[in-house]
Amino acid sequence: MSNRTFTMVKPDATRKGYTGAILDQIIKGGFSIKALKWIQLTKEQAGQFYDVHRERPFYPELVEFMSSGPIVAAILEKENAVADFRTLIGATNPANAAEGTIRKNFAASIGENAVHGSDSDENAAIEGDFFFSKLERF
Ligand code: CMP
Repeated sequence: MSNRTFTMVKPDATRKGYTGAILDQIIKGGFSIKALKWIQLTKEQAGQFYDVHRERPFYPELVEFMSSGPIVAAILEKENAVADFRTLIGATNPANAAEGTIRKNFAASIGENAVHGSDSDENAAIEGDFFFSKLERF
């Protein structure tokens, strides 16, 4: 069990002005920010980040969407970070997300679902390394 996870506030949420409220909910949920970056991905970078989904029917839409505007990337720390963060954000499809979760509060659809959260310790490390150098995290 690692104590770190990786998140992105996705373009739908940054566009709607939800970044501050989402980061506030994350911090109030007990996570501390260990790295933070406001950045717009190119299509190539978004495609690389989501390479694991390359064969899925929604991959082109996902790449287009994730490069359509700025995102906020962050490394978060908390005991049991990966599992607890997935609880805090709620189900991938906001229609199934529990009351009070970030996706219930801020997401519009399964594609435009406001936030990303790593699904394992291994992916949390890979995803954090994708965005942040050693100098950019503490
Ligand atoms: P995320 O957890 O960031 O990782 C993969 C993303 O693919 C997921 O969030 C969703 O935003 C997206 N996704 C999953 N299923 C679908 C779908 N059926 N249609 C569009 N996007 C999807």
